[in-house]
Amino acid sequence: MNTYITGVTIKKLREDKGLTQQQLAEEIGVSSKAVSKWETAKGLPDITLIEPLSQALGVSVMELMSGDTVTNKNASSNILFSKFYVCPICGNIIHSTGETVISCHGIALPPLEAEEIDDEHTVTIEPVEDEKFITVHHDMSKKHYISFVAYVTTDKVQFVKFYPEGNAETRMQFRGRGYLYIYCNRHGLMKKRV
Ligand SMILES: [Fe+2]
Repeated sequence: MNTYITGVTIKKLREDKGLTQQQLAEEIGVSSKAVSKWETAKGLPDITLIEPLSQALGVSVMELMSGDTVTNKNASSNILFSKFYVCPICGNIIHSTGETVISCHGIALPPLEAEEIDDEHTVTIEPVEDEKFITVHHDMSKKHYISFVAYVTTDKVQFVKFYPEGNAETRMQFRGRGYLYIYCNRHGLMKKRV
């Protein structure tokens, strides 16, 4: 997903609507050359044109920005491959079981791609009674901290929020195999098969 409108999206939506570059240009008060430039990635429409452009193309601003028409797909009931989204402005965390278009603070949020947990974000998992005690070894200052951990299997999501200056530890139930996710506000989403 892109965070700003792309030429491919403009071209597709324009053609779907049966408009020529000239017709679209006239509708939003620009030159056909400007439209041509956007569509060939030689320029980008000014932010003030986003709303008139979306109206002319018959889609929402969100659809125009994301390049996806808002038909949320939930092709798989297997939530093992579900997605996390985090707003960079407010830290809002969204979990989705399928592909979707998410926006927070006017930003189209991409589904986060998880890296393998690295050496700077080590996790220990110790058995405690019938649960696991999870500790993330990481700074928990206001500027750099682990924001959440989640354990995802094919049928269950366990989610625990951490806070700056708190402890990055929690208990969870591990049933079957799944992915343990951690999210660092600076280094992003990481996962480990457990
Ligand atoms: Fe980090």
